[in-house]
Amino acid sequence: MDLSTTYLGLPLKNPVMPGASPLVDKLDNVRLLEDAGAAAIVMHSLFEEQITSQQLAEFAHTEFSADSSSEAGSYFPRMEDYALGPDRYLEHISKIKEVVDIPVIGSLNGTSIGGWTDHAKLIQQAGADALELNVYYVATDPNETGMEVQMRTFNILEEVKKSVTIPIALKLSPYYSSPGNFAKSLDSRGAAGLVMFNRFYQPDIDIEELEATHRLDLSNSTELRQRLRWIAIVHGHIKADIALSGGVHSHEDIIKGIMVGATTVQVVSALLKHGPGHLATMIQSFERWMEAHEYESVDQMRGSMSLGHCPDPSVYERANYLKILNLWKV
Ligand SMILES: Cc1cc2nc3c(=O)[nH]c(=O)nc-3n(C[C@H](O)[C@H](O)[C@H](O)COP(=O)(O)O)c2cc1C
Repeated sequence: MDLSTTYLGLPLKNPVMPGASPLVDKLDNVRLLEDAGAAAIVMHSLFEEQITSQQLAEFAHTEFSADSSSEAGSYFPRMEDYALGPDRYLEHISKIKEVVDIPVIGSLNGTSIGGWTDHAKLIQQAGADALELNVYYVATDPNETGMEVQMRTFNILEEVKKSVTIPIALKLSPYYSSPGNFAKSLDSRGAAGLVMFNRFYQPDIDIEELEATHRLDLSNSTELRQRLRWIAIVHGHIKADIALSGGVHSHEDIIKGIMVGATTVQVVSALLKHGPGHLATMIQSFERWMEAHEYESVDQMRGSMSLGHCPDPSVYERANYLKILNLWKV
């Protein structure tokens, strides 16, 4: 049984890896993930806000050190509020590289063009084998057009590509009017991979306190379906690899992801819920399922249920909407 695959030009022993999360903040967990069969380690993100606040803080320190009230410094977010500051983040990549034999993928997270993208180079110098760029962006300005939002991502990709030689994957949201077209445009601009999709955390309202609130709910397998649809649609239209992120909780979810055309799948919520050892259970069950169904390799399975290959492509299209609504009987 050949589980091996290539993602972002990196040879991997299987197509399953932990996605970006704080799980890798502790080296012990990183070792456990490698022992559980992780094909690669994806770092949690270094955020634009962390980098710019450090740059601002350094500026404030030089410019205002004579200010006895130190008031200037109090405008800046405290670096200790963040998981790992930029310097520790880079150190952590180097430490992870020392303790594992699998590829390590750094992650930069931001939305504007600016000095923070220079950190891509530092992440490469720290030893990362590839870089995920997470462009989590909430378009709150009704005057901003969809094209402007997309241009922002093109510009970030172009800027980062200039400063690194390692492959770059874009971690996307599903909220573009034509995700397939956006994926093609990123592919033609040199993205080596697309991570589909980022998971957006939606605010709620506390009606007693009159406050907008936020909390982090972990995913479940129902979230997988949106990823399955769009990967099935994009598969075959781009050269870039596709990593599925969102809603992978079981070996069945891995199989579905590969069948629609994912090169790799990433797992986060399931590992936060059940611990790093759950990855081993998923990978072993995946392998057993493939054997039982007489697959010889992951490559053989990949894309067999994409829009272009599956027996009933209408499930991915508008026709499915009509069929589904008609299933409901009152
Ligand atoms: C606690 C937590 C922290 C996360 N941190 C990051 C991060 O730093 N960068 C990032 O790109 N995604 C981050 N994510 C998103 C995950 O990588 C993933 O895309 C998302 O959780 C969907 O996958 P899942 O359904 O397997 O959880 C985080 C998710 C969780 C739950």
